[in-house]
Amino acid sequence: MIKTVEHKNPKLRKSIKAVLQILSFLFFIALILMCISFYADAENLESLPPLPIFPENPATPEKVELGKKLFFDRRLSGDGTMACATCHNPETGYSDALPISLSYPTTRNWRNAPAIINLAYNKAFFWDGRAVNMEEQALFPIMSAFEMNQNLDYLEEELKEVPEYVAAFQDVFGGEITRERVGMALAAFQKTIISKDSPLDKYLQGNKDALTQVQKKGYDIFTGKGNCIACHNGPNLTDNKFYNIGVPENPSVVNDPRVSATRRFTAKVSGYTAYRTLSEDPGRYLVTKDRRDWKAFKTQTLREISLTGPYMHNGVFDTLKEAIEFFNKGGGNDPNKTPLLKPLHLTDEEKRALESFLREALTGDLVIVKMPEVP
Ligand code: HEC
Ligand code: HEC
Repeated sequence: MIKTVEHKNPKLRKSIKAVLQILSFLFFIALILMCISFYADAENLESLPPLPIFPENPATPEKVELGKKLFFDRRLSGDGTMACATCHNPETGYSDALPISLSYPTTRNWRNAPAIINLAYNKAFFWDGRAVNMEEQALFPIMSAFEMNQNLDYLEEELKEVPEYVAAFQDVFGGEITRERVGMALAAFQKTIISKDSPLDKYLQGNKDALTQVQKKGYDIFTGKGNCIACHNGPNLTDNKFYNIGVPENPSVVNDPRVSATRRFTAKVSGYTAYRTLSEDPGRYLVTKDRRDWKAFKTQTLREISLTGPYMHNGVFDTLKEAIEFFNKGGGNDPNKTPLLKPLHLTDEEKRALESFLREALTGDLVIVKMPEVP
């Protein structure tokens, strides 16, 4: 019935047609805007914005100060030999300058200690992203059998024997010492370790003279021919995603019996049943158990990259030159390698320009924390 009325009413038909036209036009515009924002999100470098606010763990100067003391406190390790700062040393870019990080005595670590820089801007933590926030992350190394090897129940009681800590936790959290509050204080402190105002930041803010000619050429390669920006984007030069880029196992450690033990142990506690015969680092696979994540690792931030070598999750490259050569060849040989990497055919001059960009343009004002007085 209604249909016939519509058909017989040309005026109504016309106006319905007009509305439909307007709607499809709006849909089309929205689609274009979505595409633009998708690409802008995916493939932009941004100068460092102001520090985000973390409502679930707001920073106060007192909390940051408490976190700093804990970061340098050897009580956090089981045998009292190691603080967070032992492996994340402010003097070496908050890393330990070793291919494979230090470890609890008699054990051996299997991965490189990443730099603790600008992590306030990141969304995934560890090379395989198994922690989603820094509050949670901080308790892992304390418990890890091959890092600080400390018992958290014991640590809580040990810290309660230190009157300065009892007073500081009361003051900051209004309550007693708990592992969660230890994690919160450590996270609040680490979020203040910032590198900013690098030549790249100034350039992106509109100062076209902030990069030298060579650095500008490197920037063009980074964002163009080299396609580094496909993954190293956003304010911290990481998309917070995971890729298999074919990084080879580090030949100097892969067969070390203690590294093998650590690898099998980690796989076993992650629930990987074939852990007994595991001879390589499965990366993000251990977190998701998704075959596509086999040997995928997090896109690492490149800020302060000149300070933070050796490079990659297993420190297999000593120098930036080696890392650039690796990307120039289109990454490694893994059958599961991302299709985003292709041979780049960079000339020697282009490689030098890219290195100069990485080494100089990403070096900013980095907060170098001095060791506080630990109670
Ligand atoms: C024995 C050396 C060692 C000690 C001690 C240590 N770390 Fe680490 N840290 C590492 C290694 C190695 C990794 C990478 C592990 C991985 O990804 O599987 C890491 C990763 C991290 C990350 C993740 C960084 C990123 O880019 O995702 C943070 C944050 C961190 N550690 C903070 C701490 C804190 C806080 C402490 C003290 C409670 C601490 N670490 C103690 C070696 C150490
Ligand atoms: C497909 C994504 C992707 C592209 C494209 C890419 N990278 Fe990476 N990059 C990564 C990932 C993932 C890692 C960490 C891999 C690992 O440790 O196994 C990484 C690590 C690095 C590291 C070592 C960081 C550290 O602290 O150890 C450097 C340097 C680097 N990339 C530079 C570049 C340059 C230069 C380009 C362009 C020529 C580039 N990347 C292109 C994903 C990418």
